[in-house]
Amino acid sequence: MSVQPSETILPECILIVDFGSQVTQLIARRVREAGVYSEIAPFNSAAAAFARLRPRGIILSGSPASVLDADGPRIPEEILASGLPILGICYGQQALMHQLGGEVLLGDAGEFGRAFIEIASPCALFAGLWTEGEKHQVWMSHGDKVTSLAPGFRAVASSPGAPFAVIADEDRRIYAMQFHPEVVHTPDGGKLLRNFVRHVCGLAGDWTMAEFRKTKVEDIRAQVGFGASGGRVICGLSGGVDSAVAAVLIHEALKDSGADQLTCVFVDHGLMRLGEAEQVVSLFRGHHNIPLVHVDASTLFLKGLEGLTDPEAKRKFIGKTFIDVFEAEAKKIGGAAFLAQGTLYPDVIESVSFTGGPSVTIKSHHNVGGLPERMNMQLVEPLRELFKDEVRELGRELGLPEIFVGRHPFPGPGLAIRIPGEVTRERCDILRKADDIYLEEIRNAGLYDAIWQAFAVLLPVKTVGVMGDSRTYDNVCALRAVTSTDGMTADIYPFDSAFLSRVATRIINEVKGINRVVYDYTSKPPGTIEWE
Ligand code: XMP
Repeated sequence: MSVQPSETILPECILIVDFGSQVTQLIARRVREAGVYSEIAPFNSAAAAFARLRPRGIILSGSPASVLDADGPRIPEEILASGLPILGICYGQQALMHQLGGEVLLGDAGEFGRAFIEIASPCALFAGLWTEGEKHQVWMSHGDKVTSLAPGFRAVASSPGAPFAVIADEDRRIYAMQFHPEVVHTPDGGKLLRNFVRHVCGLAGDWTMAEFRKTKVEDIRAQVGFGASGGRVICGLSGGVDSAVAAVLIHEALKDSGADQLTCVFVDHGLMRLGEAEQVVSLFRGHHNIPLVHVDASTLFLKGLEGLTDPEAKRKFIGKTFIDVFEAEAKKIGGAAFLAQGTLYPDVIESVSFTGGPSVTIKSHHNVGGLPERMNMQLVEPLRELFKDEVRELGRELGLPEIFVGRHPFPGPGLAIRIPGEVTRERCDILRKADDIYLEEIRNAGLYDAIWQAFAVLLPVKTVGVMGDSRTYDNVCALRAVTSTDGMTADIYPFDSAFLSRVATRIINEVKGINRVVYDYTSKPPGTIEWE
């Protein structure tokens, strides 16, 4: 996918320089929670991002690297010389000291996990939060440590393992900490970051979704053009939250142009959950009155899936067929120069790697990444600055129903990867019914929002059972439910056994074709969330 810098330049923005920490994204989220827009740029392109965004403050992330390495990443000189407020976190602190005249030494043991720091003196970061003599819990994770401070700095908090736990040069408005304020294990971390952006940088913190919505409407009009001379946009809907929110936002921007600039295309591969395709159609046509082409391509997809049992072969077939169908529909509509996508910020952030080459492909994800180049279209990606929970908030702001906005993630290849072995229309129908009962019970129990993803899987295994006086020989259904923050790692959801018994009984009684239900107890890793 082509990565384009975002177009939005806001009066209040914080630039986060990423040195490759696993948790850099959390810094951006905490800053946004404080009402200030923030963007992340890798250290090696931070100077360009700095010039483009004109930020009002800088945060330097942690890193797995060492400032003592000759090729350890450095803070761009433009940033150090800018006179703007700077906050260094962990590696960011070490890099500041290394470059401003302090000293950093290789830690002999490092310090990892919970620690308590003692506040030595007040500073703007602690305003209204921490006072002298108090002790507070923080989360440390570092090997090297600062052993002498650069001129102008003083320690304002310390711990037995980190005498320079928090340091400050209040004249230059440069602050730094050894621990990670962005993680939940530093309970006051969000407030420290808030103090940095509000008090130290002096920002008003009025970035809201309502504001974002207005800015984006303007951006979309500027990119696409508005009215008779404006461009035409095609938006592919997947049934998921992201593409739906993108489409509704673009509709809002273009609906009064009098030129029917937006057409949505919903390629229905027949692998959606129960009632989902109908919901998409009624939401778009009925509720929002957005021109929608609904392509029922289920026969094409199911025919092509015949005989395919290898998970990657299934994924690749679905991905390719989706693109073929979408392309054919776009050609029929004709004249569209723009393709809208619900790309999110985590897909856009360039990852900084210090550990070597590309990572192994576990699963080839279904997306339409190759489409714009193939079709020679320009991308409209109004959500590319947002995190998933922010997209949900924007969806609510735009009036999308809660059942749609709060929905669990659903994979592009749909039920095909929840039916190990061959996928048939009959097996999809069986799975849809079981899945619907499971989700209904989860909603009734008030558990839906506590779970990241829950779904049923139809196994290619038959077992013997007894119902009434008769022998049965039918399929096994597995239930999966996980908690997660980003889908990268996951824990199983610990239902109580009464709940699981209720769901199993209902599925076996109500769904013809299933006579046994099991619960998947595998976390990720070692399992993945989906079964294929
Ligand atoms: P795994 O199974 O890799 O899934 O642990 C992690 C998250 O990604 C979703 N997923 C997909 N989403 N296209 C998508 O849009 C795909 O091909 C795809 N495969 C997995 C999965 O549902 C989970 O939320």
